[in-house]
Amino acid sequence: MSTTSQLSGFYTLSSTERLERIARQADLTAEETQALAGALGLTLPHADAMVENVIGMYTLPLGIATNFSINGRDVLVPMVIEEPSVIAGASLAAKLARAGGGFVATADAPVMIGQIQLVDVPDPHASKVEILAHKEALLAAANQVDPVLVKLGGGARDVQVHLLDTAPTMVIVHLLYDVRDAMGANAVNTACERLAPQLAALSGGRALLRILSNLADQRLAYAKVAIPETALAFADFSGADVAHGIEQAAAFAAADPYRAATHNKGIMNGIDAVVLATGNDWRAIEAGAHAYAARGGRYTALSTWRRDGRGALVGTLELPLALGIVGGATRVHPTARVALKIMGVQTARELVEIVISVGLAQNLAALRALATEGIQRGHMSLHARQVALAAGATGADINRVAEAMIAQGTIRTDIAEKLLRS
Ligand code: MEV
Repeated sequence: MSTTSQLSGFYTLSSTERLERIARQADLTAEETQALAGALGLTLPHADAMVENVIGMYTLPLGIATNFSINGRDVLVPMVIEEPSVIAGASLAAKLARAGGGFVATADAPVMIGQIQLVDVPDPHASKVEILAHKEALLAAANQVDPVLVKLGGGARDVQVHLLDTAPTMVIVHLLYDVRDAMGANAVNTACERLAPQLAALSGGRALLRILSNLADQRLAYAKVAIPETALAFADFSGADVAHGIEQAAAFAAADPYRAATHNKGIMNGIDAVVLATGNDWRAIEAGAHAYAARGGRYTALSTWRRDGRGALVGTLELPLALGIVGGATRVHPTARVALKIMGVQTARELVEIVISVGLAQNLAALRALATEGIQRGHMSLHARQVALAAGATGADINRVAEAMIAQGTIRTDIAEKLLRS
């Protein structure tokens, strides 16, 4: 497995050379390498077994973010994304983070929340007591659903009862369920359905919805980075200026939901790209992240950036990450399996620690650019290449047209078309 994530000159290689390099470093088999090249990735029969009415497949670029050091281990991070600059941004931020020893990341136990909605309950307060008095029996019943999970150290952890301020009062039971290395939707939903009749009987009401909550706030992930200000200096910007700008950018996002939405979108650029590469449910991750950002009653930033007064800029990120490495597409999709292998991930917790660190890195890359030269400069060359491609450029013409547009300072499809014709 890889010993370093610092692959000097990686971006200057051709995509085939890059694949060879990663295949060597991550010890990929010929089949795994082919899965990345697209030849042996997801097949139509696979796809047909995954969802309904399949007629084809839709592919996206997979790139490798370099330079990541997480909890003292170097990691190459596969990212699937259509947006230019995201992978380069993550790699640059990971390089800056190395100056402070890299990312420190951790995660809660993988405890999901399942909700059982009880309606038409004659005495909600009395039913709460009745349900809690039967907690042990309920936990035992929930544990019968998946004995394998229990053997692996997972299973039901707690039963909580919430009375909702509705008319009439609804009784909502939360089942806290440790799903180990799974995302957990199937295990939790099955356990909720299994407990529902018992809960309905205990409450004297009727069980209606039985489903997990995507606000997985028992399953939070945390990342931190501390970068010496001196390492942040570039071009005409001093390290102190960059650090101060990032701190002010974070304060803006903390105070203003309009900015917080964009700030968090930048974080999710990194998070979703790894979530997607590993075949996990990125809608669940998005729902959890934004619900968590609004947990105080007002939508705010998911990260913090502060100068510590001792010459370092300290960033933190905290959000729910319900990610698995077993079940669902993580095992079915051949490319997702290879993505996990490239990262050297053995447990869901390790994956979560990588994903949360990439989110923080992505946020740093965006704020560093926004608080200094602006975001467009870095975007320019990749954007120009995309516009050239859209205008029909192929081969060497892609760079030729892109460079000509950058030199002119105008990047538009009509200009690209004109340049191509000339
Ligand atoms: C673009 O995809 C993401 C950014 O808008 C994030 C941000 O503004 O922090 C650059």
